[in-house]
Amino acid sequence: MPVAIVSGASSGIGLAIVRALAEHGYAVVANARRIGSELPGLHADGLVTVAGDVGDPADARRIFEAAITHFDGVDLLVNNAGVFIPKPFAEYSVGDFDRLLKTNVLGFFHLTQHVLAHMVRRGRGHVINITTSLAENPIKAVPSVLPILTKGGLNAATRALAQEYAAAGVRVNAVSPGIIRTPMHEAADHGFLATLHPVGRMGAVEDVVRGVLYLEEASFVTGEILHVDGGAYYGRW
Ligand SMILES: NC(=O)c1ccc[n+]([C@@H]2O[C@H](COP(=O)([O-])OP(=O)(O)OC[C@H]3O[C@@H](n4cnc5c(N)ncnc54)[C@H](OP(=O)(O)O)[C@@H]3O)[C@@H](O)[C@H]2O)c1
Repeated sequence: MPVAIVSGASSGIGLAIVRALAEHGYAVVANARRIGSELPGLHADGLVTVAGDVGDPADARRIFEAAITHFDGVDLLVNNAGVFIPKPFAEYSVGDFDRLLKTNVLGFFHLTQHVLAHMVRRGRGHVINITTSLAENPIKAVPSVLPILTKGGLNAATRALAQEYAAAGVRVNAVSPGIIRTPMHEAADHGFLATLHPVGRMGAVEDVVRGVLYLEEASFVTGEILHVDGGAYYGRW
């Protein structure tokens, strides 16, 4: 049975990824800061939840160790936990910067370091980072330099790590979503957010899930930033 760790798994995209992986026969370690011992609609068999902050090194170690203790290894890490704080650049506070850096970058760093060392020892594995199409295609109406800085950094790290670890048998890819209908966005904004995609709709969590499952199957693909964004990445429309 393949084993996955999914961070940010109590809600939105992460919860949908956990469900899909469980349906595809994976055992899953699901993490969020606040997460119960069960997840809605999921069997307890093959599911372990770990409450903790991915940006905290001790919590990241506990998340990794849960996979080793309960399932004896990790085949897939999905770095999904993330925060999004859009605002004009001049209005960002040091607190915003710390929050974005801690979850989006340190969360990736701590967990990925543990998992990659383990995957190298086994000679196989796959890391998928969830980024955002805003990183490559900023939208004037949604100023968000700090999410772009952090997620754009993850895109760059995806390519660099893919190269660094390819010979060790480990792949590293990213899914770069457009704006996805999750609790991250107020329902009142959905109409406007739909207009930010050439296809004229927001994404669904299932759209991102399909990207993750494709990359997991695609054994000759590494260093890829897979845009799941209704065409938003390809420029002004
Ligand atoms: N929705 C979009 O439009 C969109 C677009 C592009 C990219 N993304 C990216 O997709 C990912 C998921 O977004 P979403 O829309 O599904 O968000 P969401 O519904 O707000 O869910 C975020 C998840 O991350 C967890 N989380 C937040 N900070 C954490 C931390 N420090 N440690 C551990 N878990 C943490 C949350 O649970 P707790 O609060 O309990 O920790 C929750 O489970 C994020 O990385 C986001 O940047 C989303």
